[in-house]
Amino acid sequence: MIRASLLLCVFAISACQEAAQPSQQSALTIEEIRSGYTFLTAETQALQDDPFANPGLLWVDRGAELFQSTIAGEASCASCHEEGLHGVAATYPAVDESSGVLLNLEGRINQCRTQHQSLDALAYESEELLALTAYIFNQSHGLPANVDISGPAEAAYQRGYDYFQTRRGQFNLSCQHCHTENWGKQLRGDTISQGHGNGFPAYRLEWQSLGSLQRRLRDCDTGVRAEPLPFGDPRYIDVELYLAARSQGLALESPAVRR
Ligand code: HEC
Ligand code: HEC
Repeated sequence: MIRASLLLCVFAISACQEAAQPSQQSALTIEEIRSGYTFLTAETQALQDDPFANPGLLWVDRGAELFQSTIAGEASCASCHEEGLHGVAATYPAVDESSGVLLNLEGRINQCRTQHQSLDALAYESEELLALTAYIFNQSHGLPANVDISGPAEAAYQRGYDYFQTRRGQFNLSCQHCHTENWGKQLRGDTISQGHGNGFPAYRLEWQSLGSLQRRLRDCDTGVRAEPLPFGDPRYIDVELYLAARSQGLALESPAVRR
């Protein structure tokens, strides 16, 4: 409780200092949607923009190799996806037609491994899964998220929206409190962004590694002292869908660099 009131003070103080910032808004307007990139220091932005220095590109290169390679005699990803996967990542999460299940890109990659290659699913945050995910996201670099939230995806979108609005943890805060109502304010040395997923998988300096969007979500849940969901939990995939739809028009920039 002491911590919770401290946190609220943080908001209150910065609210006074930054009266020009929006606050108490229930939704982002299209005009104000901004990438997390715009909240970074010039130095971190430069690191993301530099094709030689952005550390996330090491995973992209590794992903390109894995995509071409033949493992245990199975057909390579490239042999079935000869044309590459341009624009595909921008449409994820998406409902898998055969099972009706909402898949994020990691889940789709693993489904190809198990169903089309007779290989084991890769673990979240394993080098291989991050590399393949980053490689495929990079093929949608610069494109806006283009997820379908109609028909079979509608219920998942609604669940993601509900997760975003629900207070949780000892701090009793929702995603909405920080990323819609208090973006632009300072929190523990960070400027709170609007909480878009468009940079992920992203290289976080704090992680000293690339990490998935779910790893970031787990950090945010932990940040309010809530129990994070396990990696791959369908509820986080629902949130990923909601985030993509919420970031309407914003270009994908994985691999982003973040603090
Ligand atoms: C107590 C405030 C707080 C809450 C609550 C919170 N976050 Fe965050 N979140 C942060 C901070 C601080 C960062 C790091 C700086 C930034 O990018 O906003 C961050 C980063 C993010 C990012 C990465 C943005 C980027 O461009 O790198 C995403 C996505 C995100 N949060 C989503 C969520 C979701 C979804 C929830 C609810 C499950 C949530 N956050 C809850 C404070 C919060
Ligand atoms: C034997 C052929 C085959 C192999 C090998 C294969 N895939 Fe696929 N992949 C498919 C088919 C077919 C689909 C269409 C959906 C389905 O039937 O699963 C697909 C769908 C996809 C999609 C979604 C495309 C979209 O438009 O939504 C992605 C991403 C993908 N595969 C990535 C991979 C990756 C990464 C690998 C290697 C780890 C791989 N695939 C290996 C056949 C294959």
